[in-house]
Amino acid sequence: MKKKLKWIGLAAVAIFMLLQLANPDRTNPPVVPGHDLFSVQPPPPKVAALLRTACFDCHSQETRWPWYSRVAPMAWLVANDVKEGRAKLNFSDWPITDPAKAARKFGNISDVVDSSEMPPKKYTLIHGDAELSDAQRKVIVDWAEAQSAAASGTTK
Ligand code: HEC
Repeated sequence: MKKKLKWIGLAAVAIFMLLQLANPDRTNPPVVPGHDLFSVQPPPPKVAALLRTACFDCHSQETRWPWYSRVAPMAWLVANDVKEGRAKLNFSDWPITDPAKAARKFGNISDVVDSSEMPPKKYTLIHGDAELSDAQRKVIVDWAEAQSAAASGTTK
């Protein structure tokens, strides 16, 4: 019985080590001035700080990769969040030359922050500093609404 347990343990360790070989990409492509929102239309410092703390890990190319993002299987989950997050909304790769698209993105930001969909619960559980109070949500929503209106050429 003891011997069997030992083999099961060794097999588990071997599988864990094999998983580490399939390590996903953890890249931060360079942020190019003129392409990222903050270099072209810097938000007020208060808004910028909130976005950096609560959104940038998944929605920019300035991700702070935590230590557990180096260990499978967490590595895959984190890398996937960042990949999907950037695909939907990337402050570092903003549609500067497409105001209609930018207006939609600002509108989406307002929606998901107002409804408390973002930042995701699983993220704020680990990153307590990214938890937003109602007042902080309002700061982001008001800014995003104003930007959306400005980009779509309607006044609000
Ligand atoms: C842990 C990573 C993570 C963080 C932090 C995060 N997001 Fe997301 N976000 C995602 C992922 C993954 C998606 C795509 C899947 C989805 O829609 O749920 C997404 C989708 C979105 C979308 C697109 C929604 C849609 O349906 O088009 C917006 C807008 C958004 N996030 C805004 C934000 C804002 C604003 C913050 C900060 C207040 C934030 N997110 C924080 C991971 C994150």
